[in-house]
Amino acid sequence: MGKVFLDYKGTENFVANEEIEAIRESVLAAKDKLVKKECAGKEFTGWIDLPVDYDKAEFKRIKETAARIRNMCDALVVIGIGGSYLGAKAAVEFLNHCFYNCSSKEKRRGPQIYFLGNSISEVYLANLLEMLEDKDICVNVISKSGTTLEPAIAFRVMREFMEKKYGRQEAANRIFATTDKKKGALKELAAECGYETFVVPDDIGGRYSVLTAVGLLPIAVTGVNIDKLMAGAANMRARCLSNDYYENDALMYAAIRNILYNKGKTIEILCNYEPYVNYIGEWWKQLFAESEGKDGKGLFTATLNLTTDLHSMGQFIQSGPRIMFETVISVGNAGAGITMKKQEDDSDGLNYLDGKTIEYINSKALEGTMRAHIDAEVPNLYIRMSDRDEETLGELFYFMMFACGVSGLVLGVNPFDQPGVEYYKKNIFKLLERPGY
Ligand code: PA5
Repeated sequence: MGKVFLDYKGTENFVANEEIEAIRESVLAAKDKLVKKECAGKEFTGWIDLPVDYDKAEFKRIKETAARIRNMCDALVVIGIGGSYLGAKAAVEFLNHCFYNCSSKEKRRGPQIYFLGNSISEVYLANLLEMLEDKDICVNVISKSGTTLEPAIAFRVMREFMEKKYGRQEAANRIFATTDKKKGALKELAAECGYETFVVPDDIGGRYSVLTAVGLLPIAVTGVNIDKLMAGAANMRARCLSNDYYENDALMYAAIRNILYNKGKTIEILCNYEPYVNYIGEWWKQLFAESEGKDGKGLFTATLNLTTDLHSMGQFIQSGPRIMFETVISVGNAGAGITMKKQEDDSDGLNYLDGKTIEYINSKALEGTMRAHIDAEVPNLYIRMSDRDEETLGELFYFMMFACGVSGLVLGVNPFDQPGVEYYKKNIFKLLERPGY
């Protein structure tokens, strides 16, 4: 029995059963090529079997190191960008207290977590260093290539900070590098300085790496059970491998988004109704945009935080150009026991909500908004996550990665490369007068 399900009833006014049937062969062929690793980008499909075939020794070391980091510091700084931080950030937010960093040490299951190296903001960096002044810290620097500008700059500054604070030797004990097995500037630096290292496997690209050390180490530091996360992913993998087209939700998702795209719905918006789901949306946005947006094709991926954004983007979704569809995520069993109560004077006019939980009211906001948008010709896909727990998140991560691989292949692109992200980098290097540019 799974914990993540797709419901596509909200697309039935826009997508006919015949159309879902018509694309069946193409979707199953894409899935077959992906699973057999005979597709474009096949050298980066190591994530497919990962939940059932991972390096057990490294996994054990991740858990041991996470426990050590938990005992060693007040704050862990995670340095990385794109696929080297979004999955960890998504999991840390989804599985922990909404105010994790501000919670008392006793309440938290791990140190505070700060993300760095995902921008080139001098102010953010300076403010973070100021914050860290009085804390005991560890650093996890994550870069597959080991050369990405943003994390490299952040790490250079952070390393200096650590060495000044602790001395070279102790700083080295507190720095953990996740990078390529053999090559890259970070790998060399880690070897030279004696940092403990973790591997980003050769056959797994950044945006598909959340279930490797890239995501697992920072996630485990917050006390999350990564065995359960992997078990959830393995469970979803078994479902994704099924050839039962209509029962395989990842295939249905890939099929319907391609049908909608071909009908001119060129924007997909991932909508959440919980602030702790926000970064799942950010992770998803990168996964699909970087995998599919190439060769002049691809859905533009965007996210909405609801109901917040009903008060900013709601008008556009309801009445702007009919060029988008929505994929709505809900999380079950996530109530916190706050119920509206009747008040004597009813001065705010809310007595009609007497006895209803905030979670129930939020679920009605979701339902009402979905109906309004469907009525306004915005098809709605609906993904239900049964619980706010590790297994469910593991399922969702795998579901999205598998659907993305299949969807990209149906679209006719290589879902595992990103040639377009190189161009701007050359310009930046030229402007910064980097030798050779
Ligand atoms: O998904 C990707 O490949 C990218 O988003 C990378 O993760 C990102 O550019 C960071 O790369 P690296 O880990 O090499 O620093």
